[in-house]
Amino acid sequence: MASKPAATIGARGRVVALSGATRGLGAAIARRLAADGFTLALGVREPRAAAKLGLPRTRTSIHAFDALDPDSASRWIAEAVKRHGRLDALVNNAGILRRVTFEEGSEADLDAMWAVNVKAPFRLIRAALPHLRRTGTGRIVNIASTDGKRIRDTSVSIGYAMTKHALVALSQAAKLAGWPDGVRATALCPGAIDTGMLAGLPGITPGPGRLRPETVAEIVSLLLRLPNTATIAELVVNTRQEHSY
Ligand SMILES: NC(=O)c1ccc[n+]([C@@H]2O[C@H](COP(=O)([O-])OP(=O)(O)OC[C@H]3O[C@@H](n4cnc5c(N)ncnc54)[C@H](OP(=O)(O)O)[C@@H]3O)[C@@H](O)[C@H]2O)c1
Repeated sequence: MASKPAATIGARGRVVALSGATRGLGAAIARRLAADGFTLALGVREPRAAAKLGLPRTRTSIHAFDALDPDSASRWIAEAVKRHGRLDALVNNAGILRRVTFEEGSEADLDAMWAVNVKAPFRLIRAALPHLRRTGTGRIVNIASTDGKRIRDTSVSIGYAMTKHALVALSQAAKLAGWPDGVRATALCPGAIDTGMLAGLPGITPGPGRLRPETVAEIVSLLLRLPNTATIAELVVNTRQEHSY
C-alpha cells in the first residue's frame, strides 16, 4: 500500500530567502522561521541591522539586497544557493507605502512603490524559480495586503493598493508557472499590522485592533510547511469586518 504524504513538511534543512528582515513584519518572520528550524538567507539593505536580530549563526546568512538595485536580486539568490546548496522558499516581504491618492502624492512616490512592491518581487521570483523547482516542494509567499484585494475607500493610498493588486496577480502567475514542479505560491493579504509602516496614516485600524507581526509570521511559517496537496493561493487576514473580506 502506498504510504500517505506527510501532514506537514519539515523545516530542518530547508532554506528560505526572506527580504526586508531588519524590522517590522520581516524581523518577526525571521525570528519565527529560525525558531521553527528553517535556514535563512536574508536579503537586506542594512546587514548590520540584520546581524542584531539574534538569529542562529549556523543557520543564517545575510546578503545585500536593495529593491531599487535590479542586479542585487539575482546576486542575493545566487549567493544564497552557493552558500547553502539549495533554495526551498522565497518570502517577498520588503515593501513601502507612500500616500498617493487622486489629490495627493507624486509620480516619484508611485514609481518607488512599483519598484519595491512589484518589480523587485518579480525579479526575485525569476531568479529563484529554477532553484525552487529543483526541490519539488518550493514555496513562494508574497506579502500583499487587504489593499491588494479591494479598494476600501478612496482616502487610502490608491498607488499602494494598485501595487498590491499587481502582487496578487504576480502570485497567481508564479503558482501557475511553478505548479508542475511542486512550487506553490501564496498571496498573503493581511489587514493593518502593528509596525512602523502605519505611523501617521489616516483611517487605519487603531493600535489594539491591529494584527501583531508575530501572528502574521506564524501564518507564513504554516504556509511554508503545508504539503503540495494543501495549496493556499490567497489568504486574506482582516482586522475588521468588511462586506467580502
Ligand atoms: N504594516 C501593515 O499594516 C501591513 C499590512 C499589510 C501588508 N503589509 C506589507 O508587509 C510588508 C512588511 O511591512 P512592514 O509593516 O513590516 O513595514 P516596515 O516596518 O516599514 O518594514 C519594511 C521593510 O521593507 C524593507 N525595504 C523597504 N524598502 C526597501 C528596498 N528598497 N530594498 C530592500 N528592502 C526594503 C525595509 O528595510 P529597511 O529597514 O532597510 O528600510 C523593511 O525591512 C510590506 O510588503 C507591506 O506592504 C504591511
